[in-house]
Amino acid sequence: MPEAKQQKIGIIFGSSTGNSENVAILLQQSFTGFEIELWDAAHANPNIIEQYDMIIFGVSTWGIGDIQEDLTEFIDAVDVDELSRKTIALYGLGDQGTYRESFVDALGKIYHLLNKMNCRIIGKCSDEGYQFDQSEALVNGEFVGLVIDEDVQPGLTKERVKNWVEQLKNELNE
Ligand SMILES: Cc1cc2nc3c(=O)[nH]c(=O)nc-3n(C[C@H](O)[C@H](O)[C@H](O)COP(=O)(O)O)c2cc1C
Repeated sequence: MPEAKQQKIGIIFGSSTGNSENVAILLQQSFTGFEIELWDAAHANPNIIEQYDMIIFGVSTWGIGDIQEDLTEFIDAVDVDELSRKTIALYGLGDQGTYRESFVDALGKIYHLLNKMNCRIIGKCSDEGYQFDQSEALVNGEFVGLVIDEDVQPGLTKERVKNWVEQLKNELNE
């Protein structure tokens, strides 16, 4: 039997102080058996998405609930038809200590944007273990992607990334 074609995954992140970039690197290290490439949205041409079967978008929240600016620009410029053919997963960085009422809102905003484009989005997560008052990333009682808090819970990041990668691998096989 011919070997199954290896899935190619592009991780595209918007990161102002490097936290979302570090999570992208952790994801790349954890996602064994897949070909993974990382892109900083600040320097990536939107047509790079053509080469991937799956795209993981990583985004931090700035201002009060705003999407990190580089990723907004990237998604605004992307070919919607091309993107809607991909499997997509999302992760978001935020700070539940200082921003209890807009915790990882950017993750929710990206989700709604992509949802409108009819993209298939996998990798939703429980909100157990986080403490916040309000988050746009919470839809029907669950987070629409992986939530990482390097400000308040940096010690949980590796485990959260590892568990999410296992979840994504399972969902990709469904
Ligand atoms: C000025 C400022 C505004 C922020 N606003 C929010 C916010 O509204 N919600 C949130 O969850 N985190 C907020 N954060 C926290 C960042 O999202 C968090 O530190 C994140 O890890 C940064 O990731 P990056 O280095 O990849 O950009 C804010 C941080 C700063 C400094």
